[in-house]
Amino acid sequence: MKTMYRTHTCGELNGQHVNEKVTLCGWIQKIRKLGGMTFIDLRDRYGITQLAFNAEQNPDLCKQIEPFGREWVIQVTGIVTERYSKNKNIPTGDIEILVEEIQVLNESLTPPFTIEDESDGGDELRMKYRYLDLRRNPVKNNLMFRHKLGIAIRNYMNNIGFVEIETPFLIGSTPEGARDFVVPSRLTHGEFYALPQSPQTFKQLLMVAGFDRYFQIVKCFRDEDLRSDRQPEFTQVDCEMSFVTQEDILNTFEGLLKYIFKEIKGIDIEPIERITYADAMRFYGSDKPDARFDMRFVELNDVLKHRDFKVFNEAELVVGIVAKGCANYTRKQLDGLTDFVKRPQVGASGLVYVLCQEDGHFKSSVDKFYNQEDLRAVAEKCGAQAGDLILIMAGKTEKTQKQLCELRLEMGNRLGLRKAGEYKLLWVIDFPLLEWDEETQRYYAKHHPFTAPKPEHEAILETEPGKVNANAYDIVINGTEVGGGSIRIHDKNMQKRMFKALGFTEEEAQRQFGFLMNAFQYGAPPHGGIAFGFDRLCSILCDADTIRDFIAFPKNNSARDVMLNIPSPISEAQLKELGLK
Ligand code: AMO
Repeated sequence: MKTMYRTHTCGELNGQHVNEKVTLCGWIQKIRKLGGMTFIDLRDRYGITQLAFNAEQNPDLCKQIEPFGREWVIQVTGIVTERYSKNKNIPTGDIEILVEEIQVLNESLTPPFTIEDESDGGDELRMKYRYLDLRRNPVKNNLMFRHKLGIAIRNYMNNIGFVEIETPFLIGSTPEGARDFVVPSRLTHGEFYALPQSPQTFKQLLMVAGFDRYFQIVKCFRDEDLRSDRQPEFTQVDCEMSFVTQEDILNTFEGLLKYIFKEIKGIDIEPIERITYADAMRFYGSDKPDARFDMRFVELNDVLKHRDFKVFNEAELVVGIVAKGCANYTRKQLDGLTDFVKRPQVGASGLVYVLCQEDGHFKSSVDKFYNQEDLRAVAEKCGAQAGDLILIMAGKTEKTQKQLCELRLEMGNRLGLRKAGEYKLLWVIDFPLLEWDEETQRYYAKHHPFTAPKPEHEAILETEPGKVNANAYDIVINGTEVGGGSIRIHDKNMQKRMFKALGFTEEEAQRQFGFLMNAFQYGAPPHGGIAFGFDRLCSILCDADTIRDFIAFPKNNSARDVMLNIPSPISEAQLKELGLK
């Protein structure tokens, strides 16, 4: 690391360097005075090294450092000496530098929060001074991790013949999917580019071009509401392959995931289980189940719809889960669960419980309607044992599944079943091709309009569109969708039929996607692919709550960058130039 400025970094000196003359550069982390000695902790990316100043031996130097403060940037030259009291917690803890010369490279204002592992700065403040936050170990280490993961992925992909190719950021706007970020054209007023939501169509064109195996670690832009796992600009590991079936793709990327877990976490993952979309909904009420714990849904229509209880009788679905060993829940705890499902975020009207008591009796919130025999039948159907608690919800199928899914995850949290450091990967397969939207009264592509129907379902695309499945798949880790992809349409006529099913007129389809359908006329190979959310992969592998921690300069939940204070107005002159005024 020798440069004109320094001979070593602040992370590399140890007992072996004693008596060497060294020059270091870095930021002042801390200044401490102990009698005639002054100590400075000097920090750079690589670590911390202690500098020592002896007032008796070197009074001038001690005078020089008197005005120094936290985060000043200095250069020091001195002799590596063995420390009197060693610090076993850091690699440089055996030594200190007896400083002979010191130079201030830059002064610093007092930082608005402490640059320590546990900072006293709030979220907003740290975002405003993100460059200072990035000096802190936890944040810095996240970016180092991201770098390491990126390199591992690039190496693996390169080794199996994938070529990284960049695709454009200024493309055309399409109404499908999330909202686009648009960019006005200066040269043609009234016309706009859009930033890509993903390189989907370009990677397909690269297959038509014959590249066979493409990947790219690439920025994508989506103007959607933000959550902890969503940013308006995020990064995908985007991949596409030619002459492959779904099986080939799943195997190839299972290989990548296996490699990542081994290389980065030292974990051997099990072969990845597969579950169909239909079963994921039926058993977990979600297309991204957290399968670290079982607690599967059990349909209870047949055992609970024969008595006088209107709520169940009128429901499309009555469904329950078993919380093992929770029959001792108090009234207060049970009310707490009811309150949880009634929160607007969950939106249920109520919750029914059955306590399977140790003495073989059942106690429930619907004792008025169901006798012991009825409740025993419920317990049997659920596979519940004495000591267990059964939680039941009822209503419209999809809504109830979603609500019970929230409760299942909450119970998973309460029972400590969603363990950090434990990873359960799942392929969710056989997604429906289309999804009906009540509000706009039309079908939308469940994945995107380039996904192919399963060959055996092609014939019913026009007659029973809702029943068509696709060779589309998601990779889910611990309940988060980390990636998704599909086998694509590679035939012009099929693509036309798909656009028609989505309610496009021929002209609209031609105007927006003519370039792709044209390309399909020049020998498009069968192809398919997948894209992983790179930020999500980082956060999951580190058991972090938000992808923001892995992005150097993220936006906040209102899609603002508080450091740049953007979005912001632009000048009248700029507006005019762009034809927006
Ligand atoms: P999809 O839309 O499923 O597929 O996106 C792929 C993966 O990208 C991640 N992701 C996000 N991460 C952070 N912030 C966001 N706003 C965000 N949106 C998506 C998710 C998701 O699984 N072109 C297709 C892929 C294909 O078919 O090959 C696509 O973009 O982890």
